[in-house]
Amino acid sequence: MKAIYLTGFMGSGKTSVASALAKELSMPFIDTDEKIVSEIGKEIPDIFEEEGEEAFRSYETAILEKLPEEDVIISTGGGIILKEVNRNLMKQNGMVVYLHCEAEEIVKRLEGDSSRPLLEVKDRSERVAKIFSERLSRYKDAHVEIDTTHRTIEEIVKEIVALIG
Ligand code: S3P
Repeated sequence: MKAIYLTGFMGSGKTSVASALAKELSMPFIDTDEKIVSEIGKEIPDIFEEEGEEAFRSYETAILEKLPEEDVIISTGGGIILKEVNRNLMKQNGMVVYLHCEAEEIVKRLEGDSSRPLLEVKDRSERVAKIFSERLSRYKDAHVEIDTTHRTIEEIVKEIVALIG
């Protein structure tokens, strides 16, 4: 089976869904953020602070180029869709599943979480809404879209399994 890439905004459930889906399909699961942290040897907020967002974005492309293309579930960082080269790589190498989640629900899910540098601002709701609207068309540049708002991990996994037959 071709690789399955889960894309979506921060807090849309990519990592939890990827992990549960990998278990269900008895396949390995890889998280691009985790790969970057282990390869670069720095946490994401430190990469953003010390090297800037652009450097982080090029690490994402470098990781994507190295990942296996068969029998693997890949959960991606929320901004991976920003670069066209990344969207093309994912679409060519596998099936891209966009996990949609409403902005208000995202803000709720990420309450008290300070691990995302892009959301470390006073008005987080405003920031989420802004980035979301800037990115939406690129998230939708996927093979399949699944709404995860108010749904359990099990329901989402079931839907993906049904989709891939
Ligand atoms: C980012 C999402 C994060 C991480 C980084 C940037 C983004 O991953 O890659 O903080 O630009 O949306 P998650 O989507 O797993 O939170």
